[in-house]
Amino acid sequence: MKVRILRQKSADSEPYWESFSYDGPMEQSVAGLLDYLNFHDDIRTADGEKTDRILWECSCMQGVCGACAMVINGRPALACETFLKDLKGKEITIRPLQKFPVVRDLVVDRSSIQENLKKTNLYIDEYQPSEKESHAQQYLAAKCLKCGLCLEVCPNYVNGNTFYGAVFVNDCFLVSARNREQRGEIRKAYRQHFESDCSKALSCMDVCPMKIPILSFLTMR
Ligand code: SF4
Ligand code: FES
Repeated sequence: MKVRILRQKSADSEPYWESFSYDGPMEQSVAGLLDYLNFHDDIRTADGEKTDRILWECSCMQGVCGACAMVINGRPALACETFLKDLKGKEITIRPLQKFPVVRDLVVDRSSIQENLKKTNLYIDEYQPSEKESHAQQYLAAKCLKCGLCLEVCPNYVNGNTFYGAVFVNDCFLVSARNREQRGEIRKAYRQHFESDCSKALSCMDVCPMKIPILSFLTMR
């Protein structure tokens, strides 16, 4: 199997494609494939040229940390949850998420997600018992990995603008259900950073690895 990877040596350098040959098991995930390609000290491209280890991020390898988000065969996905046997064709292409600045190879800087949440004070100030009637929905909203896949596919999200995307909606819902006193403030932030710019494309729901029903959080109380 041929593997094409869009690489970049540093944040300021130009990206370039590099091809590799993979002859390992097809039961492997894309994360496993990257590990496999990186395994030896002497790493070679498909043309036999010596090259550097491919940089990428991971932690859990079981779909719970969100670190391994990347674009696989044109679709944003978690590498550890995408299996080679499910991918069509004899070639696989892997590139970093495009909505975030590349640090190196497949590693991107997603700190804007946390920075946006910080700017709107989306934190629970003091412990308060959460609303019983929305427990099930709170549980779903709390599953958000902050992986950024929803922002990658969102036609309205541009890193650095005032529209904060689906991640923000989840947290608005969660904090609002946990702290009645913050509701006015959250509602204001919701209007400013989400409501007026969301075109309801809902592509976020298609790619979300946690299957979060983002649509159900769009009507903030
Ligand atoms: S809403 Fe889903 S896709 Fe978006 S950051 Fe959270 S887990 Fe990832
Ligand atoms: S390594 Fe944690 S989600 Fe893939």
